[in-house]
Amino acid sequence: MNLEEFVIALPKAELHLHIEGTLEPEMMFELARRNAVPLPWDSVEATRVAYDFSNLQSFLDLYYAGAAVLLHEQDFHDLALAYLERAHADGVVHAELFFDPQTHTLRSVPFSTVLDGLERACVEAQQRWGMSTRLIMSFLRHLSEEDGFATLDEARPHLHRLHGVGLDSSELGHPPSKFERLFAECRRLGLPVVAHAGEEGPPEYIFEALDLLQSQRIDHGVRASEDPALMARLAREQIPLTVCPFSNVRLRVFDTLAEHNLKTLLDAGLNVSINSDDPAYFGGYVAQNYIDTAAALSLSRAEIKRIARNSLQASFVSDAQRRPWL
Ligand code: ADE
Ligand code: ZN
Repeated sequence: MNLEEFVIALPKAELHLHIEGTLEPEMMFELARRNAVPLPWDSVEATRVAYDFSNLQSFLDLYYAGAAVLLHEQDFHDLALAYLERAHADGVVHAELFFDPQTHTLRSVPFSTVLDGLERACVEAQQRWGMSTRLIMSFLRHLSEEDGFATLDEARPHLHRLHGVGLDSSELGHPPSKFERLFAECRRLGLPVVAHAGEEGPPEYIFEALDLLQSQRIDHGVRASEDPALMARLAREQIPLTVCPFSNVRLRVFDTLAEHNLKTLLDAGLNVSINSDDPAYFGGYVAQNYIDTAAALSLSRAEIKRIARNSLQASFVSDAQRRPWL
């Protein structure tokens, strides 16, 4: 079995995936036409050429511009179903999708429109491919705490349809501590918490995500390797890191895949998984992330298996539900 066949055959969960980041330029242009929304680019090709990022912010600027074509329930459905079909082809048996309601409600798209469309696609994925899914509402950290509370208020009638909350967008200058009270309220409402930390931000942000937000997983977390005490804690407490190798290279966290610290994290005993983050922008879906990272870091088949198993163990499904995969 070659590496590609081996990777695709492994049951795996995708735990770090922004549904808005799966908007391929072809669909962006189709929705722009359907919804009469102007785009800053002339063609699909010109759009892909523009995806030459220097850091997280330079990506986010384009990502929010692209998301402007999403207006109707059908748009969110089509976006999510296309991703889920692609993930199924990669051997993903379970996907936990981040969505950013503020990206849409700020453009007057109702919260329920977003959720209805995403949820309908999730139901179809279960029926068609037996995939299980979770929806995680992510707060945009460049916005205020007050905005976050207003979004939580919009979400209140729908809490039973959400499986957790996350924290994303521009990391530097927006530490987890900014959202300590918001996340305390989310936890009080019974929502599990995850947070992006240590992507561009320092190890202190990872400590804050753990101690102030009580984050159950750390999204990215690669800068943990700068702090031995933090590494020891992440290993001891088996706090999952949802690592996204293509993203880290495209956003210049590491210069090349060969320089990525995923193997260092794995060797230190951390629960590391591989994920695609925003695959339409970063050059590949989850299986390609596994394949190219394994090749660049000379990962053994046992290590690749361990990463896939980590992804299933770190997911928000119960042990009973997980049993068929493990
Ligand atoms: N939103 C979408 N992708 C993101 C990333 N990699 N980091 C922070 N926010 C994001
Ligand atoms: Zn992310």
